[in-house]
Amino acid sequence: MNKLRVGLIGCGGRQNAHIKSLLQLPDVKVVALAEPVEQRREAAAQATGATRLYENHKALFEKEDASTLDALFIAVEPTAHTDIEETAVAKGIPFLVEKPMTLNLAQADALAAQIRKKNLITAVGFQDRYLDLMEQVRTVLEEEKPTGCLVNGAWIGGIPGVWWWQKKSTCGGQLVEQNIHLADGLRWLFGDPLSVYAVNGRGIVVPGKTASAEYDTDDYSVCIYRFANQVTATLESACYSRSVRPNCGLVIKLPDVIIDYRLRNNLILTRAGSTTDTPRKNDQTCDLDRNFLLAVRNNDPSLIRSPYADALRSLKMTMGANRSMETGDVVRFDSECNFS
Ligand SMILES: NC(=O)c1ccc[n+]([C@@H]2O[C@H](COP(=O)([O-])OP(=O)(O)OC[C@H]3O[C@@H](n4cnc5c(N)ncnc54)[C@H](O)[C@@H]3O)[C@@H](O)[C@H]2O)c1
Repeated sequence: MNKLRVGLIGCGGRQNAHIKSLLQLPDVKVVALAEPVEQRREAAAQATGATRLYENHKALFEKEDASTLDALFIAVEPTAHTDIEETAVAKGIPFLVEKPMTLNLAQADALAAQIRKKNLITAVGFQDRYLDLMEQVRTVLEEEKPTGCLVNGAWIGGIPGVWWWQKKSTCGGQLVEQNIHLADGLRWLFGDPLSVYAVNGRGIVVPGKTASAEYDTDDYSVCIYRFANQVTATLESACYSRSVRPNCGLVIKLPDVIIDYRLRNNLILTRAGSTTDTPRKNDQTCDLDRNFLLAVRNNDPSLIRSPYADALRSLKMTMGANRSMETGDVVRFDSECNFS
């Protein structure tokens, strides 16, 4: 079997997780990569054996096209997307891009239309859709068929080390950048949201003291998302934790079962008289990458659980909450998750 030829754009923290997965897949070879930081470029080249190295995506696209690359993995900071994906679409190269795919919804809408026109295979880095634990949650919901329920989601931790996380203008805020995983989980379990009301808080983290001097993002936010069928979820995001952290994940409170999904770790199911606790058994990033590349090899997009157009709805779901934080109003979503 011919090896799939993969190119990488961005070789920072997240791409290194993809590299680890790609190295486990026998029918894949990373042949080209682009990264402005020389040390990262060289380290990625050494790890993957890639020999065609470029200083940025523009230099890569000057030399590479669909005749030299079967797929691209794009993992750059949220405001660095510029024309990366547009060029990949124009050249007909399938890509996997990390969430949040951009902070510019007009750009994302235009790109989704171009992808649709070209019928291009795409995937977005919502790896938790491939978690065995999330599959079990979906099974319980299918069995229980609740006529409504309350859900509490939380992602509460510290401040990630990357420079661009310190400013809301470059990361989008914790909900958009990080807790979008649980927001996407809510969509995966309960469908598109109908509305959101959200508040944010600052003043716990002190710029220049407990964060960098430029820090201006929210210390926390809380959203109330309403879904069809009487499902209401609160979603907490916070980055002010220092020495201790509370449980994170989703707690779904049904009449006869409590589903306690502990973020990427285990699933506790409590029923009258019985409790089970199941640890995670699969590597969700590896499964995301494997499914994307299998979809490319077989030209079968059905293997992808979060193509660009679907992921865009999760991005809008979180950006809508940012709008509510700014205005103090309830934000309503249409059937495409657009909001005004
Ligand atoms: N799915 C997940 O669980 C997960 C986890 C962490 C990060 N992410 C996402 O992955 C993305 C990257 O995050 P990160 O932590 O790796 O950030 P990072 O800052 O560590 O890495 C980004 C890299 O992209 C490079 N880059 C920027 N512009 C470029 C260009 N034009 N051409 C080539 N390279 C370019 C930068 O030099 C940098 O090395 C973000 O969107 C983040 O939200 C996803």
